[in-house]
Amino acid sequence: MALALTSTFAPRFLPLRLPKVCLALNAETADEMLEIAESMAQDNPFLEFRLDYLKQPAPALAKIRRFLETHQYITAIATCRRADNGGKFKGSLASELEVLSKASTAGCQIVDVELESALKAKPEALARLRKNAGLIISSHDFRATRHLDQTLEKMQKIPADFYKIVTTATTLSDNVTMMKFLQNESDKHALIGLCMGEQGIISRVLGVRAGSVFTFGAVSAQQKTAPGQVTARELRGTYRIEQVDAATRVYGVAGDPIEQSLSPVIMNTALRRENVNAVYLALHAKTVKDLIHCVREIPLHGLSITMPYKQAILQYLDNSDAHTSKIEACNTVVRGQDGKLYGFNTDIAGVVRPLEQRLTIENAKVLLLGAGGAARAAVFGLRERGAEVWILNRTAAKAQKLARQAKARIIKRADLRKTAFDVIINATPIGMGSTKECPLKEDEIQAKVVFDMVYDPVETRLLQVARAKGIAVIPGVEMFVHQAARQFEIWTGKPAPAQDMLRVVTIALQDRARARVAERK
Ligand code: ATR
Repeated sequence: MALALTSTFAPRFLPLRLPKVCLALNAETADEMLEIAESMAQDNPFLEFRLDYLKQPAPALAKIRRFLETHQYITAIATCRRADNGGKFKGSLASELEVLSKASTAGCQIVDVELESALKAKPEALARLRKNAGLIISSHDFRATRHLDQTLEKMQKIPADFYKIVTTATTLSDNVTMMKFLQNESDKHALIGLCMGEQGIISRVLGVRAGSVFTFGAVSAQQKTAPGQVTARELRGTYRIEQVDAATRVYGVAGDPIEQSLSPVIMNTALRRENVNAVYLALHAKTVKDLIHCVREIPLHGLSITMPYKQAILQYLDNSDAHTSKIEACNTVVRGQDGKLYGFNTDIAGVVRPLEQRLTIENAKVLLLGAGGAARAAVFGLRERGAEVWILNRTAAKAQKLARQAKARIIKRADLRKTAFDVIINATPIGMGSTKECPLKEDEIQAKVVFDMVYDPVETRLLQVARAKGIAVIPGVEMFVHQAARQFEIWTGKPAPAQDMLRVVTIALQDRARARVAERK
């Protein structure tokens, strides 16, 4: 590695192996920055002081010195990127270098100089800087992932200890480009590489495995120093980055949009609980083609497929289970050892499992509201188990068509008051979010069990009304958990820890509901 051959800084400054996650600190005042450093230091022995975020970087250095003297185990990077180069520092090149030089005297073992500044600086000035600290030369592309080899070639002309190349992912495949680059070059140079942007998550979690010396994490969702940055806590807790190795299998949920997906929380919890060496990522796929490229190249061992790709994925499957063909939608993909893609539909398990925990499905009388994708999974699953199903939908023709396909019946809204069911299932989006709407009136609800597929909020208006009538209720989170549990079983061959999965997803939804209330205030 170039590090050992060319380094001139005193090795006592750096641990033999740097932690995998460097926590990026930003704040406008030194006191605030040091306060965050103090509170995060215990869990984060590797910190980057983004001095360019400070209104006045120079006066902060005495405080950083005191902090580093009292936290000897900390490895610190000082960065003071100029505004022209994507940072926030308004001073000249000479002032940037002066701040960094003082930062190294204050105890920062590594300093980061962006390529644009490094190219303009006198080589002696950089060499002086490097006497006291490890030097990172960094390059940022805020638009795309391109010219990685050329950029490295340009950087290499400047002697340094680390070369950092950060680009922007505009497709999932950009992560493949970054990781192949890291794989090819990281045995020759000490590299740090990742893609910014929501689509760069793959490189943020898997970049270290591909050869990046470390990666960056944010203090909190509100305190990010780069687009798409994941919090250090998530990198370690949810994605278990410290354990990711060559054998770690990669799974993901693909959709558009995907930011709000609860699948990563639920699946990573299950994988951790069952000691499966695997990580599960949210993949913002703008096209199925882009997704399929990643499946083959990364490779991804399995996928959860969500809106809007449940049908579009079908043409890429080499084979699929009976549920997928019946529902004409696939929500689960397995990449076999032969590289072939196998499709499954676990939405049926998501509907059937919570119901069979409460009643016998065979011969049960079920009212199904809606005739879209979710309703399809319900009606085929229930018919397969011998239930009698009546469909009610806003657009009657769609209800009729689905009823014909699934050998179910249709019912008119006017007839609800005089009909009792064993189960009522809501497969429309009515009641979602903060609407407080209810798909049925109180006197239209006559059943032993009411199952609402809407899962956010956990307790919908429909469930409240049903509960008040003494009816047993099944919240939509149970469907979400059971379809995920079945995916977990297909991928790992192990029983899924459904109770743990239900617990984490319920907590996440409650947090979300609280945030919504706080936002409205
Ligand atoms: P999903 O895949 O989640 O089931 P979908 O395929 O869009 O979503 O289906 C939504 C279902 O809810 C449809 O049956 C839709 O009725 P239409 O067939 O008439 O479109 C129904 N739906 C959506 N919004 C509704 C509303 N405000 N009132 C009544 N039904 C509604």
